[in-house]
Parts: sequence; structure tokens; C-alpha cells
Amino acid sequence: MTEHTSQKSIVVLVSGNGSNLQAIIDDISQQKINARISAVIANQESAFGLVRAKNAGIPAIFIDHKSFASREEYDAKLASCIEELSPNLIVLAGFMRILTPAFVERFSGRMLNIHPSLLPKYKGLNTHQRAIDANDKEHGASVHFVTPELDGGPVVLQSKVPIFDQQESKELAERVQQQERQMYPLVIKWFCEERLKMIDNKAVLDNQVLAEEGYAIG
Ligand code: GAR
Repeated sequence: MTEHTSQKSIVVLVSGNGSNLQAIIDDISQQKINARISAVIANQESAFGLVRAKNAGIPAIFIDHKSFASREEYDAKLASCIEELSPNLIVLAGFMRILTPAFVERFSGRMLNIHPSLLPKYKGLNTHQRAIDANDKEHGASVHFVTPELDGGPVVLQSKVPIFDQQESKELAERVQQQERQMYPLVIKWFCEERLKMIDNKAVLDNQVLAEEGYAIG
């Protein structure tokens, strides 16, 4: 379907390492996704995601949240910076800030997030340890549309990994992140091919409303 849709523009927001960003950069450069990244924006100057952007020739923008008096002011600046780039899609890739409802509403239906848990389980932080502590047998990651409810928007895709006995959360996190690097570019590809939309607060793929746990084969 890629050949029927125009190239899409993406802005990626990061706070840290940016391994998900790298997976997206790589799939774009291999022409698996018909898009370009207009900018990478970070709220942390030390975010390695900014280095990854520069290495790929993508504008890297640092907007320091500490220089704004309130969350609203920061989000207003972030929103105006994004608006200038007129992206089709905003991708949160390890952007570790809670966004105001006004910001989220402004980009409703065109903002995706990846979260390291099988939502609706373990919204928020420290998800790997919480899954271990709960003696869960499986854990994973979810890609979802962003809505004002924190980590609460409709899920597009989940990927599961088993939890082995006594497993260290660091090792579990690494296995979850391996899955993330596969699944996030795939969902972004669907969006860029105009196959994926958010309609009435539900994720819709190829005109099918997705189940609560997102796309499933079969
Ligand atoms: C990823 O595991 C992502 O799921 C998580 O941060 C990590 C970023 O890694 N996001 C959240 O926890 C958001 N609530 P990366 O910077 O290497 O892509």
C-alpha cells in the first residue's frame, strides 16, 4: 500500500537512550517505512537519542523542561515547536514526561507511545519489577494511541515475553526492549500507510476496530 500514500513526516520525542528511535531510523533508511523524521526533540540535554538523530542527519532539538515555570508552559512551547514542523505523526519513544491534556488533545489521533507493559497492567514507572513482584508469568510492551489518560489510550499492538523464575528485571527489560524495536516500527509503518487510525477513541486497522489488547493474528 505504501506506493499509494504520500511520504509522511514524523516528529520523535525522546528523553534517553533512543533505541526505539534508532529502530525507526533504520527502517526508514531501509525504505520499510515511507516517511521522514523532521526532528527529534528531547527534554534532556544528555539524551543519547539526540546523538542518534545528529548521526542520521536529522535535526536534533533540546527543549529544557527546567527552564519553564509550569508543565503547561513547557507543553505550549513543545506544541508550537512541533506545529512548525507540521508532522503527520508524533512518536513518543521513551519520552519520560506526563503531557498535559491540552497538548494531547491538540495532537489527538496522531500521537503514538510505546509502554513497557501489557497494558492496562502497570501504567507508569518501574513496570518490569512490578511484573516480577506480582509473580506474573508473562510481561511485554504495548504500542498505543496517546489520550489524556496516562498510558490509557487504545492499544494497537502488544508483544509478550515469558518471565522466568527469579529473573532479574534488567534482563527482562532487555528482552522486552528487543520486542519493542520490532513492534514500534511496524505500527508506525501501518500509520504511515494510512491503514491505522484512531476513531471514537478506538484503534482501527484496515477498517477493523482492534480488540482491547490490540491487533492479534487469526
Ligand atoms: C522503552 O522501554 C519504552 O517502552 C519506555 O522507555 C524505554 C525507552 O527506551 N517508555 C516508557 O516507560 C514510557 N512510559 P529507548 O530510549 O532506548 O527507546
